This record gives sequence, C-alpha cells and structure tokens, in this order.
Amino acid sequence: MKDKKIAKEKTAKYKKPNNADAVKNKSGKGVKSKIIKFRIQRFDAAKDKKDDTPRYDTFELEVKEGTTLLDCLDMIKWKHDGSLTYRRNCKNSICGSCGMKVNKRTKLACETQVHKVTETFCSDEILIEPMGNMKPVKDLVVDMGNFWDALHAVKPWIIYDGSFPEKEFIMKKEEAKKLDAVASCIMCGVCYSDCNSLEVEKRFLGPAALARALRYADDSRDTRKKERLRALNKPSNHGIWDCTHCFACVQVCPMKVAPLEQILKIRKYAQQSGMIFNPGARHHKAFSDGVKHAGWINEVTLPMKSVGLNIVGFFQLAPVGMRMYFKGKMPDIWHKPIVGAEEIKKIYLELEKKEMSNKSDIKEPELFEHRNPNKE
Ligand code: SF4
Ligand code: SF4
Ligand code: FES
Repeated sequence: MKDKKIAKEKTAKYKKPNNADAVKNKSGKGVKSKIIKFRIQRFDAAKDKKDDTPRYDTFELEVKEGTTLLDCLDMIKWKHDGSLTYRRNCKNSICGSCGMKVNKRTKLACETQVHKVTETFCSDEILIEPMGNMKPVKDLVVDMGNFWDALHAVKPWIIYDGSFPEKEFIMKKEEAKKLDAVASCIMCGVCYSDCNSLEVEKRFLGPAALARALRYADDSRDTRKKERLRALNKPSNHGIWDCTHCFACVQVCPMKVAPLEQILKIRKYAQQSGMIFNPGARHHKAFSDGVKHAGWINEVTLPMKSVGLNIVGFFQLAPVGMRMYFKGKMPDIWHKPIVGAEEIKKIYLELEKKEMSNKSDIKEPELFEHRNPNKE
C-alpha cells in the first residue's frame, strides 16, 4: 500500500482550536488536548473491486488526553461522515468486536488511547486499517468466517463419555485455575489478525482456536483428550505444528491469553502421549537435539531429520540444498560445539528430569471428525 499508489484521498479538517495544548474540563483542571489526524482505510465490497488500490480518508480531530480510538471513530461517524463503518458494542474490552489495525498492529479500539499511540510513534497521524488475515467487507469490518470455522473445528465444547453424576460435575479449584487464562478469551480475532503463519497458510487453525483447544484438552471433565491431541497434531489439519513461534499473538492479545504458550502445552501433551511421527514433531526434536549436543542448531541434519524416512521428502529438499550450495550458504557439515555447550547440556538434562516427573496421564483416543478444508 504505497502512498503514491493511493487512488483517492479525502481530507476533512474539523474544529481547529486556537490553543491545542490545553483545554479546561468542567472542574477547571487542565487537560492536555491536541489535533490528531486519522488516516482511515475505506472499502466497500459491494462497490469496490477486490484488487482495487485501497483508498484512505483523513480526518482531523481535536482530542483530549484519555480519549480512546473508539470515541474518535464515533465522533467522526456521528459528526462528520455517517458512512464510516466499524464494529463496536461494549466500549469496555468485553465484547471483542472493535478489533482493527492501528499503525499496522491490531488492537481493540475501545482500549486504545490515542494520545499514547501518538507518543509511541512520535507522530500525530494515526493509520487505521481493518484486521488482517480476514477479508474486508466494509471499511473496518471484516468477514470473520475463517476465524469461526477454525474455532468450530477444535470442538470448543466438553465431550464426556462416562456416566453422568446425579448433580453437577465438581471441578477441583486447581483444575479450574489451570483454565483461567484461556477461558478469558473474548474471541476478538486480534491475535488471528496479526498471526504471521496465517499470512502464508490460510488453513492454519490460528492462535485463538488452538488456545481454545487447550482449554478443552485440559478440562478434567472432558474424556477425549488424546483424540483432540491427535487431531491437532495431524499435519493436514494445520494445527499446532504450523505455528512459527513469532510471539505476535502473545504481544497483541488484550486479555493476556498468551496463545503461543497454550500451543506449546498442546505440543508437549502430544509428544508425551507418543505422537512423534510427523514432520513438526521431528523438526522440534531435531532442533532440540542439535542444541543439546552442540549448543546451536545443526542446519545440515535439521531438514533431513524433519522429513524422516521419506524418499519424496528428500527429493523435495534437494533443490533447496543445491541453491544453498551455489549461493555459498551451505553450513559446515561438521557440527562443532560452541564454547559453553556443556553448560547447555546440563540445563537440558535438568529440564528432562523435571519433564519426566510431570508426565501426564492421558486417556485412550476415539475418532475425531475434522472440519472441511478452509474457505478462501
Ligand atoms: S506465535 Fe504462532 S500462533 Fe502466535 S502469531 Fe506467531 S505464528 Fe501465529
Ligand atoms: S486469544 Fe486474545 S487476541 Fe486472540 S481472540 Fe482471544 S482474546 Fe482475542
Ligand atoms: S467495543 Fe467491545 S471490545 Fe471494544
């Protein structure tokens, strides 16, 4: 979206006060106020073509310190351009409907204070765009169909096969506490919007659905833990192994769900229950073995070990290997340990001991019916 390519840009200037530094509130106390420019992406799927260059409208508002982005959008819509479209409801970080990109990072508009954004970016202009990894429908509203499909695919409900108690299921406090972080997800899609893996693999289930999957796999009332793990572990389902650990979901989540942490927990559960024969799990092990042995990754054996005993896979790797060789990028075939590698080994051994003592007890699996391939 280069500036020079912008086909249409409209600027509306509104109410520029004589003194933009401070205005008086009702109690007479000085409140900081300044003029802020909002550059907002506009799009209407009903009129514009999908490949049209995005257009932006610019609005200038006088904004007091403490004002949220959602307040500003309301002001623009109610006073200046009624056609501006966005989702909002609670204004309180509860409903999860006001996700949008603010200077390229997805946030909830109702908890984003615009003065803080201008301070962080040292600029009084803020770029507002619809969430990523989902198709825009109108202005800042996106089609969240894929997000909901992914959530549905992990069966976000308890499945219980035993005999039912006379009254309610009693859950121990510590069991419930384990679920606190993931249970606070408000399904806003903010993590999904900023997920880097989703940009290249649209079928990836994404951070929110996987965090939710952990919530049920870890629920003491659910009897299909291993079945869930098996489905999430299967490469064709684009589950836990499609994540590249970029941490974006952890950084942007407004509810501190830390989806990556939940994904890593599922991986651990899957490996503990013997689900190790797939490229993701093999890659993970080869990576870890390399570091344990020499203190750094063994880039020669890593791809081969990830592929496993798979002739087709080896042939697929060959062109990459050739390109690396001819461009002088082929790593040294001898994987020499770095200085201090022995210390790293000791850390590994300590962690492995701990892992062994925490090994979880996993129930037997049943069939898992997975979603259809992702819609474009
Ligand atoms: S850590 Fe994984 S799930 Fe989270 S944003 Fe990055 S790739 Fe996506
Ligand atoms: S995990 Fe966080 S960012 Fe993702 S949908 Fe849930 S609350 Fe939103
Ligand atoms: S309006 Fe409900 S989360 Fe922002």
